[in-house]
Amino acid sequence: GAAVEVDISALKPGEKMTVEWRGKPVWIIRRTPEQVAALPKIDPQLADPKSERKPDELTPAYARNEARSIKPELLVVVGICSHLGCSPTDKFQTGAQPSLPDDWPGGFLCPCHGSTFDMAGRVYKNKPAPDNLEVPPHMYLSDTRLLIG
Ligand code: FES
Repeated sequence: GAAVEVDISALKPGEKMTVEWRGKPVWIIRRTPEQVAALPKIDPQLADPKSERKPDELTPAYARNEARSIKPELLVVVGICSHLGCSPTDKFQTGAQPSLPDDWPGGFLCPCHGSTFDMAGRVYKNKPAPDNLEVPPHMYLSDTRLLIG
């Protein structure tokens, strides 16, 4: 099959790795405890905070939670914007960045038309992108081995 097995043992908190699955970039991010704790607080600013839209396409049942993940710290998403398919850029840090609010809690910014996503790949309200980033089918084979697909 087209499944991809990934060793995530070297991935440190706050880091992202990218692997290819079915020709698409899949991001694997080990979120910090602070990033995980911030997720529920962002809900009012998001278009679909509970991932209720297109659940069969975008969010497998085991990721239909606040962190959109099996393990709270580990995010696995397809890095393709739900607007017109650009690949968003990491904006994990807070602080002064043009085009982001001062209280930006970390996430992703699509360079094409300015859609923003949080650290769970959830899209902010009133952006061109209509939907959250896709969580691909995945499972953990062990603490350090991830199977995508
Ligand atoms: Fe991402 Fe348009 S393609 S905002």
